[in-house]
Amino acid sequence: MEREDPKVQKERRLMLTLLGTSVGFATLSALLVAKDLVPKQSQSPDRLPPQVGDILVHATGHTQGEPISPDALPLGGPFLLAYPMDPKTGVVRSGDPKSTLLVLRLDPKHLAPEVARYADQGVVVYSAVCTHLGCIVSLWHPNLGVMQCPCHGGEYDPYRDQVVAGPPPRPLPLLPVKAEGSKLVVSGTFSGPVGVVG
Ligand code: FES
Repeated sequence: MEREDPKVQKERRLMLTLLGTSVGFATLSALLVAKDLVPKQSQSPDRLPPQVGDILVHATGHTQGEPISPDALPLGGPFLLAYPMDPKTGVVRSGDPKSTLLVLRLDPKHLAPEVARYADQGVVVYSAVCTHLGCIVSLWHPNLGVMQCPCHGGEYDPYRDQVVAGPPPRPLPLLPVKAEGSKLVVSGTFSGPVGVVG
């Protein structure tokens, strides 16, 4: 049998290599496109917003991941940072900062009606995402009784759901909750868009 010219052999090998690489990239691209087409709900439960029936758990500290009991919240603040958790699977929805929550217990007699609608036994839950540029509202002023954003001095009144200082263009949205025994359970959706709008 006639031997193939070494030059032709080399070209054939090169063609096969290129073909294999192209198929590899095409497959990878198809997989990535397919991944984008998967509905977000089936992608990652830890990145979902709070769902009705979720329970609130500590987001920080040595009790991180444990349910927040209404009784453990000091009356009149400060707030605790929390995440929602799916009680069936134990998945904590901490994958998206927009699910970070502020939980505090206030005297129900002093709540504005529009806040009281979302509260239960004085427990009020707000989105922790500042409406100015999206920092996490993480400070509490004990004398003023306001929630503060560390980035540009935004201040929010938790009794009236109002901006009282700084540049935030709108209040923090409220999340409705119910106190059920020693747990806090999400009972609806946010009162408005979370974080920066537009
Ligand atoms: S990001 Fe909160 S005040 Fe600017």
